[in-house]
Amino acid sequence: EDAKKGSYDHFMLKEIHEQPMALRQTLHGRIDGDDVVLEDFPPGSFEGISRVQLVACGTSYHAGAYGEWLLSNDGIDANTFIASEYAAYPAPVDEETLVIGVTQSGETADTLEALQSARDRGARTLALTNVIGSTAARTCDDALFIRAGPEIGVAATKTFSSQVATLTLLAERLVRDVTGEPTADHEARLDALADLPEHVEAVTTDTRAEAIAQQRLGDDGHFFVGRGNAFSVALEGALKFKEITYEHAEGFAAGELKHGPLALVTSDTPVFAIGTGQHGNRLESNINEVRARGAPVVAVAPRTATDLMDAADEFLPVPATHPDLVAVLANVQLQLIAYHAADAMDRSIDKPRNLAKSVTVE
Ligand code: G6P
Repeated sequence: EDAKKGSYDHFMLKEIHEQPMALRQTLHGRIDGDDVVLEDFPPGSFEGISRVQLVACGTSYHAGAYGEWLLSNDGIDANTFIASEYAAYPAPVDEETLVIGVTQSGETADTLEALQSARDRGARTLALTNVIGSTAARTCDDALFIRAGPEIGVAATKTFSSQVATLTLLAERLVRDVTGEPTADHEARLDALADLPEHVEAVTTDTRAEAIAQQRLGDDGHFFVGRGNAFSVALEGALKFKEITYEHAEGFAAGELKHGPLALVTSDTPVFAIGTGQHGNRLESNINEVRARGAPVVAVAPRTATDLMDAADEFLPVPATHPDLVAVLANVQLQLIAYHAADAMDRSIDKPRNLAKSVTVE
């Protein structure tokens, strides 16, 4: 096992650093100028689809929520569901509904049950997975592989980035088939997608997250806030942090702070504010709101976001790419924060207590 970790202390750190390579595999041959090439999905594959539902658990649920945001912004009726909830209380589907199971392993029982329920009621199903031959890939009508390579660490890292990249490609095909038009900003977005491996590399070689993680040990709670697609990354940042540090962490939509979470904010609750450059100065107002209550703020945002840099106590920059993809880069900074905090606390990073890589019971 140690040999497979190479020079890394943990699989999680290795997999964080593998993200540029994983993304290159994910994207390989799938972008052709201003169009996408998805092996089993030529143009027209999704004609007749009028509604998309995404079902998933854990980190994959957050990737699904990111996908929902992309699709909704592109004019598609899309909703994400926690798979266990969907299995119990399924949303309406018909033959024009595409239900996408987002599942790294393709074996998560709750996700398989949700897909089965959708299939039984006449929906078309698609597995978006890392594992060829998995139950999800075999039982859905279609499969689209994220090609991230094996992930050993229980806390998912590289598969989240590859899931979002694959959902961005799929969104392009879906939008063209359903609306007859490419996505509004398709050339710039696909260019940014092609640049994502290089941009992630710039983040994984940045060492600032380690110092910030070590400064913040011993806090009472850790809050992660964002808007739009950064909201799904706020949830993911908090999940990663709690999974491997065993410390309290929660993600919120930044606009919800004033509706409850502000009551928890003190000088011992750092707030990680994720900026994408898409929501004017609203995040800056949220930063001011929590700093006024004494909370130390770490802004994670494009390096050009000088307003957030000035407003926050600490600034973790990411390359200033297309705003639809900035949050993927911010997520990598948050993976590093969680990793270095857990490492400093000497936690069992690759196998956190009570958790399993793949949960095959309902
Ligand atoms: C478990 C893992 C998580 C993972 C979730 C969904 O809870 O610990 O890291 O996100 O299952 O797994 P899946 O294979 O369906 O993506």
